Amino acid sequence: MLLWWWSSVFLLCIHGFRAQQTYVDNRQLACEQNFTEALGYTCNSSPACQSYLTFRSQPPLYNTPFSIAALLRSNPNDIAAINNFNSTSDIIPANTIIIVPIRNCSCSGGFYQHNASYVLQSTNETYFSLANNTYEGLTTCQAMISQNTYNYRNLLVGNNITIPLRCACPTANQTAAGIRYLLTYLITWGDTYTSMADTFGVDDIQSILDANELSPTHIVFPFTPILIPLTTPPTGINNSATPATPPAPPVIPVAPSPGGGSSSKLVFVGVGIGVGLLLIVSLSGFLVWFFRRRKNQNQHNLPPPKHFPPKVMIPSESKSWSISSEGIRFAIESLTVYKYEELQKATGDFREENRVNGSVYRGIFNGDFAAVKIMKGDVSGEINILKQINHSNTIRLSGFCLHQGNTYLVYEFAENGSLSDWLHSTKNTKNRKNGNDSVLGWKQRVQIAHDIADALNYLHNFITPPYIHKNLKCSNVLLDSNMRAKITNFGLARSVDDNEDGELQLTRHVVGTYGYMPPEYIENGLITPKMDVFALGVLISELLSGKEATTTTGAPEKEEDKDAVVVNRAQLSEMIKEVVGGENVREKLVAFMDGDLKGEYPLELAYSMAEVASKCVAADLNDRPYVAEVFVVLSKILSSSEDWDPSDELEHSRSLSIGR
Ligand SMILES: *[C@@H]1O[C@H](CO)[C@@H](O)[C@H](O)[C@H]1NC(C)=O
Ligand SMILES: *[C@@H]1O[C@H](CO)[C@@H](O)[C@H](O)[C@H]1NC(C)=O
Ligand SMILES: *[C@@H]1O[C@H](CO)[C@@H](O)[C@H](O)[C@H]1NC(C)=O
Ligand SMILES: *[C@@H]1O[C@H](CO)[C@@H](O)[C@H](O)[C@H]1NC(C)=O
Ligand SMILES: *[C@@H]1O[C@H](CO)[C@@H](O)[C@H](O)[C@H]1NC(C)=O
Ligand SMILES: *[C@@H]1O[C@H](CO)[C@@H](O)[C@H](O)[C@H]1NC(C)=O
Ligand SMILES: *[C@@H]1O[C@H](CO)[C@@H](O)[C@H](O)[C@H]1NC(C)=O
Ligand SMILES: *[C@@H]1O[C@H](CO)[C@@H](O)[C@H](O)[C@H]1NC(C)=O
Ligand SMILES: *[C@@H]1O[C@H](CO)[C@@H](O)[C@H](O)[C@H]1NC(C)=O
Repeated sequence: MLLWWWSSVFLLCIHGFRAQQTYVDNRQLACEQNFTEALGYTCNSSPACQSYLTFRSQPPLYNTPFSIAALLRSNPNDIAAINNFNSTSDIIPANTIIIVPIRNCSCSGGFYQHNASYVLQSTNETYFSLANNTYEGLTTCQAMISQNTYNYRNLLVGNNITIPLRCACPTANQTAAGIRYLLTYLITWGDTYTSMADTFGVDDIQSILDANELSPTHIVFPFTPILIPLTTPPTGINNSATPATPPAPPVIPVAPSPGGGSSSKLVFVGVGIGVGLLLIVSLSGFLVWFFRRRKNQNQHNLPPPKHFPPKVMIPSESKSWSISSEGIRFAIESLTVYKYEELQKATGDFREENRVNGSVYRGIFNGDFAAVKIMKGDVSGEINILKQINHSNTIRLSGFCLHQGNTYLVYEFAENGSLSDWLHSTKNTKNRKNGNDSVLGWKQRVQIAHDIADALNYLHNFITPPYIHKNLKCSNVLLDSNMRAKITNFGLARSVDDNEDGELQLTRHVVGTYGYMPPEYIENGLITPKMDVFALGVLISELLSGKEATTTTGAPEKEEDKDAVVVNRAQLSEMIKEVVGGENVREKLVAFMDGDLKGEYPLELAYSMAEVASKCVAADLNDRPYVAEVFVVLSKILSSSEDWDPSDELEHSRSLSIGR
């Protein structure tokens, strides 16, 4: 493990000679982890150069050229001149972006930096608060920890802290392209690639991406620095043209300038909501969705599924929970509207023996089974989604009924119940629904995973607007008479509106099921299609292991440790990563696999499944594949599984057990 880490660092260094600088990627939030990106920009060309920083005026302390110069150890006259102030004591309005010239950005300890110093003034100041709040992201807690002797736990008022401010010098490659300076800009809410490029008069947006080794689909974060390559010294910034800083929660959408004549359109939206976050532990923070669409075909670094650029939108927080007549009216056009009496007749007046699960009843309409689900309040959202969805791996809605404030949804009936009944009931007999002891075989499991991916691929990529299911889990996967999977329960699904480019979808109300929710959703409420990919990875892990998404491993010792319940829950998403990582993968995988399979599965294909599942549950959503990619992998596994003969493996495992 350590070896692996060192070799990556080594590779990174080798790479560093040719590469530009690596974007910090919110790693500055994990103060106790020593990431190279967080320590600074690596020295990869000339030992020193003229450079520029940006700083946002911060009343009451840092809002004149003089006080900003003192904080950043720059020259007040330079600051006043470049930003067109008359004097070094001009009061600068809050959040105005100031360009701060650094005459000598130089290399120390392998990183480009400009040292400032700061004397601690209050007991509540920490390396993190200095880096993030006082210095606005121009440095990181990691860089300060590594260059100061003061232990971060014992900082005292009066300590004189070295502040290594991030700056960088152009590489030979950049110099060859005419770039003379790199300016450290601090990303904030509402920035777009276009606005950043406009602000600094950069014509080639690709040069910004290159300078920070970013791909167009990579998410970047506010309060982190990004390098802007400049061919001429910067002049003062027109602050009235730059976006406003603090967002009014939950979101500020930033529409890209339409038809800007340019062949590339870049959108970059910032949004913030606060979810109590632990700075040191988590890599969370506020997210910015940063993406770009290129019509320019000479770019080969486009995201794989071109028909679905990562795009997110805003939740309607204020959605009222009354029956919306408009929603129902849309639905009526294509659905049967049932009379309550018909439902009573079909379900035997909602008799207990017709109850399938929770508030879902089995009914017979014209000789065919159907499921009737009783829901309180407004479900027009779900009705409208289901009515548009027409895919064999999603449960079809055939009609509905409104009666005394309840909505009754009539769905196609899935004879074989939910996937969780099949996978988890043997371990948890009270859930046993399928009556017999039959167990899902390998091919059935692969088919189910494939079906789920097929349905998600359809939702994400083949309908307009695309949908994010948001609540994919084992009990929301139903099995029909042929054991084919159909996903259901679109109550939380959100559309990704195609017309509104680049809006970020966030929610304050994190609802869902622990074990299936990705970290960016739990921590920040960020909703993206990658959320479904995470849940898909958990589902595949469940299909492989028969284990539940979370298993409680210990009760909290103290009442006030209620949050610890979550910590104590073993997450399947973590287990699967453990299985495919490191050594003894074969043994770990065999141990992980569902005992009910009795060894009757092709180990190589099981490994491929486990591998794709572990990629799907990557903590960083940028590392997760798109569902279209997962679908392709599962299709291959499915076709290989069809050629696989269980008796081969049985022989194999028998000979193994005889051999023991
Ligand atoms: C961080 O890593 C560097 C080498 O990459 C090492 O020199 C330094 O001591 C480490 N710092 C901490 C705080 O672990
Ligand atoms: C600078 O001086 C000019 C003319 O004296 C004046 O119009 C302008 O408002 C001053 N600017 C500031 C920021 O004080
Ligand atoms: C810049 O800083 C480096 C390191 O402190 C020093 O060696 C160099 O002489 C300085 N260059 C200028 C032009 O001040
Ligand atoms: C620290 O406390 C001071 C008041 O004593 C307050 O003004 C400042 O905002 C606090 N800083 C942080 C980082 O909490
Ligand atoms: C970092 O600083 C910004 C701006 O002052 C603030 O809004 C944000 O909450 C800070 N981040 C954290 C994690 O404290
Ligand atoms: C910046 O400060 C660090 C720590 O005090 C020191 O090691 C380094 O040499 C300084 N760099 C420059 C360019 O002064
Ligand atoms: C803090 O240290 C820096 C350099 O290490 C020095 O230039 C500065 O004068 C010191 N500040 C105080 C208040 O002692
Ligand atoms: C910069 O490097 C990239 C790849 O590392 C290369 O494709 C490009 O041609 C180089 N540009 C210049 C101007 O050398
Ligand atoms: C600054 O930007 C605003 C808004 O885009 C524009 O109206 C104004 O003319 C610009 N001012 C200057 C000096 O460029």
